[in-house]
Formats: sequence, C-alpha cells, structure tokens
Amino acid sequence: MRRFEVKGITKSFGGLAAVKEVSFTVTPGETLGLIGPNGAGKTTLFHLITGFIRPDRGEVRCDGESLVGRRPSAICKRFGITRTFQIVRPLAHLTVLENVLVGALCRTRSIRAATPGALSALERVGLADRAGDLAGSLPIGQRKKLEIARALATRPQLLLLDEVMGGLHSHEIEGVIALLKELKQEGLTLIVVEHVMKAILALSDRIVVLNFGEKIAEGIPSEVVSHPEVIRAYLGEEAVS
Ligand SMILES: Nc1ncnc2c1ncn2[C@@H]1O[C@H](COP(=O)(O)OP(=O)(O)OP(=O)(O)O)[C@@H](O)[C@H]1O
Ligand SMILES: [Mg+2]
Repeated sequence: MRRFEVKGITKSFGGLAAVKEVSFTVTPGETLGLIGPNGAGKTTLFHLITGFIRPDRGEVRCDGESLVGRRPSAICKRFGITRTFQIVRPLAHLTVLENVLVGALCRTRSIRAATPGALSALERVGLADRAGDLAGSLPIGQRKKLEIARALATRPQLLLLDEVMGGLHSHEIEGVIALLKELKQEGLTLIVVEHVMKAILALSDRIVVLNFGEKIAEGIPSEVVSHPEVIRAYLGEEAVS
C-alpha cells in the first residue's frame, strides 16, 4: 500500500448523518488515532472503509483505486485492508484456532496451508495455549485478542482496530499497546479507534477527531488534545469558556 485516502465520505441513517463529509489520508507505516465521543461515527466509518456499508457519497481509495462497491472479502484480499469488530462475536462453537483459520483462509483455500499462519497469529497475541479450546469459552480479554489474531491472519497492510482495549484490565491494555507498537515497527499501517486515551497518545502519529459525524480536528497528538473544539466535544461548553 502506498497511500490510503477517504474523501468527502457521507452516510445517513434516516435523518441522522452518522458520517458527514469526512476526508483524511493515511500514509504507509503511519498509526492514525481516530477518536470522538460515543456515537461520533467511528465504527460507521470503519464499516464504510471496509465495504460493510456503502457510502451515500464520497470516496475511499487505496493507491488511487476506489474501494466503494467492493465486498469486504475483496477489500481484504486485494488491498490488504482488515478490521476488527467493536462487538466481538467469535464463532463460539469452533475452536480458537478454527476462528483464526477463517481469517487465514483469505490468502489460501487450503486449511493445511493456512494453519501455520493462524498458529503464528495466535502466538503473536498470546493465545497459542488456548488454540484447541472453544472460542465461546474465552473471557472478554481473550476474545479481544482472538479478534486481533483473526485480523492478523489475513496478513493485512492496513489494520483498522475498533476498541480492542475496551473492557480490558490495565495490565491487559499494556500488553495490547506493546503488541500494536511491535506491529507498527514491522511496518503495518494502523487506524486505531480507542477510548483509552493513554493508548491513543502512546500509539498515534496523528489523530483525527470526529463529533456528530464530522471531522472537527486533525493533527499531531499534542495539538489535538489542546484543540478547543476537541475539549468542547469531550467536556462540554463550559470547559472552554
Ligand atoms: N445501522 C444503523 N442504523 C441507524 N443508526 C445507526 C446505525 N449504525 C449507527 N447508527 C447511528 O450512527 C451514529 C454513529 O454511530 P457509531 O456506532 O458509528 O458511533 P461510534 O463513534 O462508533 O460510537 P462508540 O464510541 O459508542 O462506539 C450513532 O448515532 C448511531 O446510533
Ligand atoms: Mg463504535
């Protein structure tokens, strides 16, 4: 991937503009933090980028090619763009390894060929010892890790992470931050949606802030956290007056 771009993307549900005229670019190797209050449109933006929802208007481009109208599986396979889901729903009656194989089968049709990659993704997230257990038996912290492993097994170039730290204990959060830093060092491009500000500040090269579907700020972390619009969005009018 050389360049990833979202341009003027818009999606309404009934009368509600969930994402409104949002534009930004991501350069290879960069980690972009995507933040905003509950309901700001972060998850909807991920659905739009990865083909789960079609935008009403606007473009999503990877190396100049439009992704709009393509299926999620095609976007993953052809462009190496994979996302995790905020609400994790592993295939509960399959094993942990089988769940990750579902991701690995994006690159091959043979289970035998897919297995080494699936096992190494499980090792990466520290779940190798649970490979044979049913996914439904995992506690939330490990389900979140399974979600990351499934995404990694698709061998992404751009990975979109939707609150992978939500509901985790602080020691688990440190582990996930360390993993994401390693992935970044290896050259993976990341868009990280997270309410855990410590993680956003530790990981992001740049931050985009959404509020009521609109981009209200963009910049390096130190600029963004002191931006009056951002403080207003998070803390209310009185915080800036
Ligand atoms: N399928 C849908 N139908 C109707 N409204 C929707 C749908 N999906 C999202 N919305 C609405 O769009 C807005 C944006 O929701 P979204 O889930 O993208 O926010 P978010 O930034 O991910 O919030 P959170 O931080 O709570 O996860 C919200 O008002 C939400 O209720
Ligand atoms: Mg969300």
